[in-house]
Amino acid sequence: MKALVLSGGAGTRLRPFSYSMPKQLIPIANKPVLEHVLENIRDLDITDVGVIVGDWGPEIREVIGDGSRLGVRITYIPQEKPLGLAHCVAISRAFLGDDDFVLYLGDNMLPEGVADVAEQFTKTRPDAHVVVQKVPDPQGFGVAELGTDGRVEHLVEKPSRPRSDLALIGVYFFTDRIHRAVAAIGSSARGELEITDAIQWLVRHGHEVRASEYTGYWKDTGRVEDVLECNQQLLGCLTTDVRGDVDALSRLSGRVVIEEGARVLRSQVEGPVIIGAGTVVEDSRIGPGTTVGRHCVVRYTRLTYSIVMDGACITAVPGLRGSVIGRNATVGAGRVGDADHRLVVGDDTRIEVTA
Ligand code: TTP
Repeated sequence: MKALVLSGGAGTRLRPFSYSMPKQLIPIANKPVLEHVLENIRDLDITDVGVIVGDWGPEIREVIGDGSRLGVRITYIPQEKPLGLAHCVAISRAFLGDDDFVLYLGDNMLPEGVADVAEQFTKTRPDAHVVVQKVPDPQGFGVAELGTDGRVEHLVEKPSRPRSDLALIGVYFFTDRIHRAVAAIGSSARGELEITDAIQWLVRHGHEVRASEYTGYWKDTGRVEDVLECNQQLLGCLTTDVRGDVDALSRLSGRVVIEEGARVLRSQVEGPVIIGAGTVVEDSRIGPGTTVGRHCVVRYTRLTYSIVMDGACITAVPGLRGSVIGRNATVGAGRVGDADHRLVVGDDTRIEVTA
């Protein structure tokens, strides 16, 4: 079996970060989402992985390389424009050949893995095997209606009146029959070749499509809120590991990772927290639910439920919560006595200040 990982896309919901980096490289528990994805694929004993990339292809290649570090062999497949998930399958025909494959969205996190679903697919080999989960707002998803025997009877993309609350989540298993379906469908109203339409084509033509309801944790990291929540979820499984220096005046509690070369001085760290390599934390309170990247500086600051990316510097902010700070960003107090905020803010940035 092969894998096709979709790592192009526009990432409009994740602005401003997606202006300066591909969303699949956003760090969750200090590791890019795409690395989590590739590790899950490797855990299925799949080594041949096609990765669809768009404009951010060079940045993704630089971080992921040929995949050998993660135990997989990557073939990069450029997509000129984000023309839909089924379009990604169409342009990967040469890579996929006639093999079975798993289609995996490069921004979806399923930390417990999909080994059980893969096993069901390999045992029964329906033409498509989708993974579904109950959601409170099915209008925003591809929605599946299942028969009593677990067969999919009907699929609709973003229905205005959903007839089920089972949303398709970011992992699909296919035999080569999907290629006929992809070739047969046209673009949707939003101008994309929808994978939901291709699978519905299989259903309509009497091919076997099955579904597994996934009960583990799943998160599409498409929005900032999702990224923060997913980060906290992963931090919940942290094992304490202190390699950096923590001075005698600092206190660590709960599960804490302090990476190599980090320094924690006169501070309180309440886990779960990761402090990245080479980062300096001074006179601050960090955590819980917080990840600080590598080579950051945090001084005189209280920081909870947040993600700080590599190289950022935060000084004298009395309370930051639910915040995501981009790479090399600077956040700090102004001059003493100055009551005004001073902001240098890029497009689509969101700032909430206390009154
Ligand atoms: P989406 O999150 O559905 O789309 P998007 O990345 O364009 O995001 P937004 O809605 O915020 O603009 O895509 C799911 C995954 O599939 C994601 O990793 C990007 C990838 N993708 C492609 O590689 N090519 C495509 O044509 C599309 C639509 C998505």
